[in-house]
Amino acid sequence: MEVDLENFFKGFSKLKLSQRYQRLLDAKAMDSEDVGFFKSGGIDSIELADHFIENSIGYFQLPIGVATNFRIDGVDYVIPMAVEETSIIAAASKTARWIREAGELTTEVIGNTIIGQIQIAQVQDFANLKKCVEQNEQKWIEELNREVAAGMVRRGGGVKSLFLRSIERPDGKLMAVLHVQLDPCDAMGANVINQVCEYLAHPLEEVSGETVTMKILSNLVDTRLTKAKIVLKDVDAKMGEAIEEASLFAELDPYRAATNNKGVLNGIDPILIATGNDWRAVEAGIHAFACREGRYQSITRWRYREGVLTGEFLAPLIVGTVGGVTSLHPAAKMAMKMMRIESASHLSRICAAVGLTQNLGALRALTTVGIIEGHMKLHIKNLAMGAGANDIESPILQKLLEQVLAAKKRISLSDATMALKKMRAVKENVQHQATSEI
Ligand code: MEV
Repeated sequence: MEVDLENFFKGFSKLKLSQRYQRLLDAKAMDSEDVGFFKSGGIDSIELADHFIENSIGYFQLPIGVATNFRIDGVDYVIPMAVEETSIIAAASKTARWIREAGELTTEVIGNTIIGQIQIAQVQDFANLKKCVEQNEQKWIEELNREVAAGMVRRGGGVKSLFLRSIERPDGKLMAVLHVQLDPCDAMGANVINQVCEYLAHPLEEVSGETVTMKILSNLVDTRLTKAKIVLKDVDAKMGEAIEEASLFAELDPYRAATNNKGVLNGIDPILIATGNDWRAVEAGIHAFACREGRYQSITRWRYREGVLTGEFLAPLIVGTVGGVTSLHPAAKMAMKMMRIESASHLSRICAAVGLTQNLGALRALTTVGIIEGHMKLHIKNLAMGAGANDIESPILQKLLEQVLAAKKRISLSDATMALKKMRAVKENVQHQATSEI
């Protein structure tokens, strides 16, 4: 970022929309074209939708906002997040400020390769297949790199290895699965790995005499993991220990792990959506990785020792930065520009960092005041809108609902509807009295 983002972050949430745009323009996180795009309500033609999907009838629009205060690997970021859930952006920004002030957030990608699978559903002679793969591995890799993955090879990647697995079937027969490991450099690599597998199926069948039944990439990319780490200093012992206990809960209990991981994905999915990425692929990879030891576990881990709280996220997080929606959707292009994304692994590191931050924010809230408090301000606003309050009634109704919440410790749409009804009745009474007194 070219401007002082320390000032950019100050009071951002209190600004009016026009002031927010101005700050983002000043920070060079957006340009006037981007602002114009959002001001005019986003994409105004159906044609782009027709490019993306079949039978398109329009767009489903989600709110997009920016999380502030992030410093990842020593660099300041404004994080675009497309999400419908109240409090996510506020919690991310608040927790990022804590980390910025009291610690650091670092990331790395471990491993290079992605995985493609070639299935032979009912292998006739596994020993012979194994021999064929061993004898031809180098030749096939060279051919694949020449014929299919030449572009990747030029950038330092390409097919690296083959790995044969056998799986016992319920009918007692054997299934064979050949894994192709490919370094996609800084791309997501989905297209190239699928092409590689389709190409390799032919020589594999020819040499082994076996029948290939299907070929496709795997979303469980345990050969290329993204790691994020937060180290926070001067953490109060009570809070640090409570967060470690919350972490152990998610490490040991799948019921809690699912909710913990959902909270991590609260930070990741909105970036994937904002950048036009396939969030289902990332979700599938993360959940499968969370089960790698035969039991669903947390993908984050927190430990507290002598004032220092350390948290880690580790999981596959395969994203793309070129092609498809990412390159064509104006908002996705803007999101990529806002974060100055240079490569797929750069984007995956940002996602991991925000996911871990979101997890910390949730654990801090859950082990102290609970999450209701943070949710309530916007929730009350939504309830007022849901009850049908107009612009004049809404602020008064919200104040009333805050009082209801303070008294009852809970609040619902029927409370809002009832309160609005009473408000209107009082207003009518007052009007009636005033007219009868004239
Ligand atoms: C809510 O969207 C996410 C949380 O449930 C996550 C968690 O429990 O860690 C608050």
